[in-house]
Amino acid sequence: LRSRAEALPRKVGVGSALAVAPLVADDQYRATAGEQFNLITPENDMKPQFVQPTRGVFAFEEADAIVDFARANNIAVHAHTLVWFEALPTWMRSASDKKTVMTDHIKAVAGHFKGRVTEWDVVNEPMNEDNSDGLEHNLWYQAMGADYIAQAFRAARAVDPSAVLYLNEYGAEAEGPRWKALYALVKKLKQDGVPIDGVGLQSHEYEAGDRVPAETFRKHVRALADLGLKVRVSEMDVVTSDQALQAKQFGERLAVCRQESNCTGFTSWGFTDRYGSTATTNRYPALPGNALPWTSSITPKKAHTAMVDAL
Ligand code: XIL
Repeated sequence: LRSRAEALPRKVGVGSALAVAPLVADDQYRATAGEQFNLITPENDMKPQFVQPTRGVFAFEEADAIVDFARANNIAVHAHTLVWFEALPTWMRSASDKKTVMTDHIKAVAGHFKGRVTEWDVVNEPMNEDNSDGLEHNLWYQAMGADYIAQAFRAARAVDPSAVLYLNEYGAEAEGPRWKALYALVKKLKQDGVPIDGVGLQSHEYEAGDRVPAETFRKHVRALADLGLKVRVSEMDVVTSDQALQAKQFGERLAVCRQESNCTGFTSWGFTDRYGSTATTNRYPALPGNALPWTSSITPKKAHTAMVDAL
């Protein structure tokens, strides 16, 4: 994947979320990641609960280990994530000065990784299309209103001006109210001069009903291009026992990303069924562990072939 991606006239990022434990303990996992990818995302290790477990006390060892691996292998790091309503330490949930907490966290964490990561998910999963303003009324919203999103992007830009700043969202690839709400939000952010550079479309496909046609994805990539925004496929996994269908979803999505000049990269949420993806490991009842492009023996599946062919 990597050599094909790097031979393209316009370089496209291609890679996976990585976890630190197998990177340290599993030689085959580490070797495959180093050989196949030019863009990786730490799956969990940069989330607030891990990097700031106690107020003002930072723990960067595990995230640094992933960043060091990437740098040693000349792989770009998409950092994930600064502001979210999950993966928070308890102290952060109960703090009364949420605005200070949010901006201090952004300053410290984006400051720590400045120059070593190329991109950030600044705000993760802000949407809830069931609310009239389209937003999830999470703890940050409750403290600051919808403006927490703009404030987070401004703080991130100030601390790392060369990082490409993304808003990352799930379930917004397909047509429907969730996509509409996301589009309206980012349009407004751009109109207001908020320093957002792009949108990550997570692309988890857990259920038969989640299969998004490539042309719908293309239409949305282009709609975002018209707003001056980049797009990335940020967390793809396709739960199905039908390997041909899985290959079609991965391959076609990556092909559209290669073809559309504002699509910067494609990452799957994990790469081998050995460790599963969120879809297969965190869901109850557990889903079959077959969502990713490599088998549990780390041999390439049809989805991997389709991705190579797409580049
Ligand atoms: C998931 C990880 O994959 C799990 O290991 C963890 O237990 C929970 O978080 N959207 C996101 C990711 O933006 O951060 C989530 O990652 C999956 C959904």
